[in-house]
Amino acid sequence: MSNIIAITSGKGGAGKSTVSAGIGQALAKRGKKTVVIELDAGLRGLDIMLGVENQVVYDLGDLVSGACSLDDAAVSIDGCPNLFLIAAPTMLPEGMDKPELPQVVQALSSWFDYVILDLPAGIRFSLQLIPRLADMTVIVATPDYVSVRDSNRVASALTELGVTNCRLLINKVNTKYRKMNIIKDLDEVLDGVGVPLLGVLPEDLQIKSVFSCGGQLEKETAPAVIFERIAARIEGEYTPLYII
Ligand SMILES: Nc1ncnc2c1ncn2[C@@H]1O[C@H](COP(=O)(O)OP(=O)(O)O)[C@@H](O)[C@H]1O
Ligand SMILES: [Mg+2]
Repeated sequence: MSNIIAITSGKGGAGKSTVSAGIGQALAKRGKKTVVIELDAGLRGLDIMLGVENQVVYDLGDLVSGACSLDDAAVSIDGCPNLFLIAAPTMLPEGMDKPELPQVVQALSSWFDYVILDLPAGIRFSLQLIPRLADMTVIVATPDYVSVRDSNRVASALTELGVTNCRLLINKVNTKYRKMNIIKDLDEVLDGVGVPLLGVLPEDLQIKSVFSCGGQLEKETAPAVIFERIAARIEGEYTPLYII
């Protein structure tokens, strides 16, 4: 089973944290005990996005340095049994560069069905951790020229390091723009990045609002179905893509 999933991108703002939260919720709804670990030290955000800002006392830095236990650091997400968050430290560096970090993540993978690593923008940290840890890497790209080129570079750098199980998630697809021919055709994005497709997410107000301050996607709406299918594909089920 691919139980450590790294979420990366070429640039910030592509939607790594949103995708981490959405995939985390979808796997948890399938009954999988899932923890999302935010690795963006100094730029914590997932606590707010998952609605647990006031419940975070300890963070990943505390866990790595041994200042707290796993039970202290893993905050359970209201309304989503099976889903937990380990928040990023609010300050740099607080243990993020310690050699113990990969060992801690590896140890967590025996406590959870899935460990989702929400990696920081830029590839330095990704290149350091993904080859050592990830069973699957999801590259989040938006359908524009800069994102496609950056994502291709991330994919190539990972390939050089021997990483094989990479998937592409195209995020913030806006069909109106596509009709205006500002944004590339999805095929072009796929060819430009050169990585098999995991899913396609629309630019969508529900996604933005639910993953801005906590909540659940409304059942049977397109975003909920898309995340369900992505989770099923991660679990190795044959499920057709749902693209709107
Ligand atoms: N599919 C989407 N539809 C609408 N807004 C989105 C979508 N994905 C991400 N966003 C918005 O884009 C911004 C950046 O997303 P975020 O997940 O924080 O990116 P990253 O973690 O890669 O920096 C946020 O304001 C988020 O709400
Ligand atoms: Mg982020």
